[in-house]
Amino acid sequence: MPLWKDGKLGLPVKEAVRLFPELKNYLDERGRLDLSNREARILYNRAIAKALFGLEVEYHPRGLVTTPISRYLFLKTFLRGGEKVLEIGTGHTAMMALMAEKLFKCDVTATELDEEFFEYARKNIERNGARVRLLKSNGGIIRGVIPEGERFGVIFSAPPYYERPTKGVLTKREGVGGGKYGEAFSVMLIEEAKDYLKPGGRVALFLPDKKPLIDVIAEKGEELGYSVRDVKFKVGTRWRHSLMLNKA
Ligand SMILES: C[S@@+](CC[C@H](N)C(=O)[O-])C[C@H]1O[C@@H](n2cnc3c(N)ncnc32)[C@H](O)[C@@H]1O
Repeated sequence: MPLWKDGKLGLPVKEAVRLFPELKNYLDERGRLDLSNREARILYNRAIAKALFGLEVEYHPRGLVTTPISRYLFLKTFLRGGEKVLEIGTGHTAMMALMAEKLFKCDVTATELDEEFFEYARKNIERNGARVRLLKSNGGIIRGVIPEGERFGVIFSAPPYYERPTKGVLTKREGVGGGKYGEAFSVMLIEEAKDYLKPGGRVALFLPDKKPLIDVIAEKGEELGYSVRDVKFKVGTRWRHSLMLNKA
């Protein structure tokens, strides 16, 4: 079970340094971590994954630095435990798939498109002795990737959501959702998901605090017959959204 520090999920820098002594190289004279440094961010997040969630996670040197606490808080908005779930785009860390399996005891299938990320995800799953079925996407989202006739209680994703490539942090596949507001990937996902959800099942999307993007996906969801609920939650100083679409 995750540890709660002072009522909040987090990890004091001192404890992170104890787990990963290399972090000392990124401390200033007052013991503050230089989180503008990518290597420091990776090490700190690896320490959080280990100390709070009991996960051993290696990050791809050029991938998105997935933050464990944000992903855990997201999963808590819709998982009750034991569901059969599908994650689209698990990324190189496979962090949410691992949490769903280890912490929420779900039966997990996860997909990934990128070859190198897929290989990292596979090793992270193996390293944690997790029973996650990992499937390589051929470019499709659900259809053509997941066997026809299979049904899930929950389909979730932290989808790519930029309208066009952004400088710096994200690779194109990680970042670009397409469409006017970056919604195209998510819209395709919720369309396809309808055929792969059990009755009463739901889709959950991890989204940034970007109203036009959320509105356009929510509208499309209602058109498709989902009932839609948006739960906003705070991670550090940032707001994030869990957009949940329930199938009748
Ligand atoms: C924004 S990242 C999220 C990664 C990770 N789940 C997380 O929470 O940080 C989106 C991921 O989806 C992958 N992806 C993009 N298109 C995909 C597709 N059609 N099928 C499966 N994965 C895809 C990308 O390679 C990337 O790893």
